[in-house]
Amino acid sequence: MAGSSKQHWSAERYAATAHFVPAFGAPVVELLAPQPGERILDLGCGDGVLTEKIAAAGATVVAVDAAPDMVAAAKAKGLDARVVPGQSLAFEREFDAVFSNAALHWMHPQEAVLAGVARALKPGGRFVAEMGGHNNTAAIQTAFRAVLRRRGIEALNLSPWYFPSAAAYRARLEAAGFRVEEIAIVPRPTPLEAGLGAWLDTFTEDFLNPLVPDDRAAAKQEIIDLLQPILQDETGLWIADYVRLRFRATLPG
Ligand code: BEZ
Repeated sequence: MAGSSKQHWSAERYAATAHFVPAFGAPVVELLAPQPGERILDLGCGDGVLTEKIAAAGATVVAVDAAPDMVAAAKAKGLDARVVPGQSLAFEREFDAVFSNAALHWMHPQEAVLAGVARALKPGGRFVAEMGGHNNTAAIQTAFRAVLRRRGIEALNLSPWYFPSAAAYRARLEAAGFRVEEIAIVPRPTPLEAGLGAWLDTFTEDFLNPLVPDDRAAAKQEIIDLLQPILQDETGLWIADYVRLRFRATLPG
């Protein structure tokens, strides 16, 4: 992974093209099993769709995200949402649980994120999350490498993402003081109802914006052409090669 993302997050675009993200997050909320009266931190809350579900279980939820437009959308739902980057958590022993869906892979450095999560939890607290795992969107990343290489650019140097294996992330969690109760890689082919082009617009500015503006549309089309035989089914539906890493870890009591 190269470093911090410069991706611009629009809550309106996200709701139109990426509403599947919170929809697929239901099993992670189930693994969290929020209880009435608990105080829970939602790390990388996006527009707050899953935060609302956690709050509906009777928990008090503080939601944080680095993107102001997403936080504004979460606040508009009546949530306690704050603009805080994941590597700058300043909470001290105040949460029963920290929850995160589809966000950790954008956060760097991971050591700072995990130290902040551990600090935010009460002793015995739990960290339940899902993020992109090893091989996530492998075909899409490989297409970017091929298309940007034609332009003399190594896409790996632009990647804002970190997609670890279960063994690698277990080691990180343990180094941060967690006991890992469960951790698994879960392949999850993901239908892109709005198409691959809309997905690329929503999530891949870090790769496309470094190109000269006049070349971006052509590069995007080359990526689509490369992936069409791999990721589009015979009905025309694009299905992205998502792979999740899901875990539940606890701090010693
Ligand atoms: C993900 O949630 O795995 C993901 C989303 C956008 C870009 C890359 C990965």
